Amino acid sequence: LPPLRIGLAGLGTVGAAVLRLLERQAEVLTRRTGRKILVVAVSARDAAKQRGVDLSRFKWFDDPADLAKYGEIDLFVELIGGADGVALACVEAALGAGKSCVTANKALLAKHGMRLARLAEEKAVALSFEASVAGGIPIVKTLREGLAGNSIERVYGILNGTCNYILSRMETEGLSFEQCLSEAQKLGYAEADPTFDIGGFDTAHKLAILTSLAFGTVIDASAIAIEGIESISLADLEAASELGYRVKLLGVARRTPDGIEQRVHPTMVPKSSAIAQVMGVTNAVTIDADAVHELTLVGPGAGGEATASAIVADIADIARGVRSPPFGLPVATLSEAENAPMQLH
Ligand code: HSE
Repeated sequence: LPPLRIGLAGLGTVGAAVLRLLERQAEVLTRRTGRKILVVAVSARDAAKQRGVDLSRFKWFDDPADLAKYGEIDLFVELIGGADGVALACVEAALGAGKSCVTANKALLAKHGMRLARLAEEKAVALSFEASVAGGIPIVKTLREGLAGNSIERVYGILNGTCNYILSRMETEGLSFEQCLSEAQKLGYAEADPTFDIGGFDTAHKLAILTSLAFGTVIDASAIAIEGIESISLADLEAASELGYRVKLLGVARRTPDGIEQRVHPTMVPKSSAIAQVMGVTNAVTIDADAVHELTLVGPGAGGEATASAIVADIADIARGVRSPPFGLPVATLSEAENAPMQLH
């Protein structure tokens, strides 16, 4: 097979980590996929920034939209971020030009995922987004491929590493909210605008994607009731702790007699529960399903390397010629989803 030629747009924490991981694992990836995987061109806002990667061997594009359409690439990796604007234009252009796309952009998918998925299907190319939910945890592949034989009753978990990091550090170190947020930013966990993290919106974007995969419904982030963690104080955490609880920001989607309910809010969980043990930047997703019963995946939810792990998994799929319909064939709205709650064991 000829090499898979990649154009990568966005060289922040995650983009630089993807370049490093592809380089480090080049031989392994060739063995696993049967072909070479080559980054041929890149684009980012600042060409001069120090990233610890040698960019001289890649063709440089000032405008990522030009890179998206570049004739010498088979696959466009979008790590620009943002729900609209440049990221949307680039992904549309790349898919429109018949190139597969890999994106970590949950905000983009939460808003335009259905339309982009249809475009990818029309053009018979892949649109892959493993990194968009829960960082390094392969939750997209788990729900779509791994649990294809199950009817899912509920999916919930800790989906934002920054919030879990802040809540954990506040509780265990007694540090202020602001101090913990600033640490999370320094560690490269937070969104460019951290309001997305602490306001619960990032969790909501991820939950909307999980809901579509789990229940076969269209993505509908506007239906999510969202409450963030910005008003949680050290005193709240101490009070919860005295009663034997921890506070976690959870995203929950479940079947109800009225359809699929989705919500995001801080939740008191008993200290003895499994979810209370999930500390720091770690994410956890639990799925209740009829055949597998209960399944929980726990792992790093943010950070360059962990997110790169998920992106490289998508790249490897595409190198192997795997092209899953991005969201299956979602037809139902949230309220039309099979509405009777299932009997679980
Ligand atoms: N800001 C996100 C988080 C990054 O903290 O979880 C990973 O999506």
